[in-house]
Amino acid sequence: TAIWAVLPAAGAGSRFGGGIPKQYLEVAGLPLIAYALDALLAHPAVDGAMVAIAADDPHWPGWTSRSGKPVRTCVGGSERARSVLAALDALDDVTDDALVLVHDAARPCLDAVDLDRLIAAAAGNGDGALLAAPVRDTLKRASQGRSAGTMPREQLWRALTPQLARLGTLREALRDALDAGLVVTDEAMALEHAGLHPQLVEGREDNIKVTTPADLALVEFLLARRAG
Ligand code: C5P
Repeated sequence: TAIWAVLPAAGAGSRFGGGIPKQYLEVAGLPLIAYALDALLAHPAVDGAMVAIAADDPHWPGWTSRSGKPVRTCVGGSERARSVLAALDALDDVTDDALVLVHDAARPCLDAVDLDRLIAAAAGNGDGALLAAPVRDTLKRASQGRSAGTMPREQLWRALTPQLARLGTLREALRDALDAGLVVTDEAMALEHAGLHPQLVEGREDNIKVTTPADLALVEFLLARRAG
């Protein structure tokens, strides 16, 4: 089965502050998106990557291949889910039964073992799969700044990426969920809307998405520790 990596990288990163979108912030001379791309392309079963970037993105380094595998680009959309859908549409020469691995460009610490376990989980599983981590903190429901109750956390997981699905299944599910007016924050949510139950594959907690300057400092530490 063909496997394509899909990276939504069309966000402005406005929550981070500052000018440069967070996926292009550099650690040890490489933008975060390079680490994300290379982690995916390093897996022998992954054929190439489709990256959704902003129109006329001045920060995109212009790669057409990395690790000897093709890197293609398309123009993303106004929300993450629309960027993913644009990337799936741009894979118009790939068959619907191929697998796609959707991974945030701002998540540079993907572990090779986790990726391998995710891909293994996809075998014989039509509902898709995602890396996820169990919630560790006690969760409060807030009302006017006061704690109004405690949520049972036993059943709660944090959705990470990559998230894996059949290309045709995910394209249709994303389109339907967006048409239904849902704010689609990950691929599994679209698959759930289609009545599917993607498999949760427990992944490493340090596969973090860079959202704040504190996240960047943590990622710098993690990547340096790995390199050393
Ligand atoms: O903003 P957030 O942290 O949810 O972004 C997650 C990923 O989705 C980032 O890699 C970002 O570039 C991407 N994104 C996108 N298109 C958008 C918004 C976010 O590709 N319109």
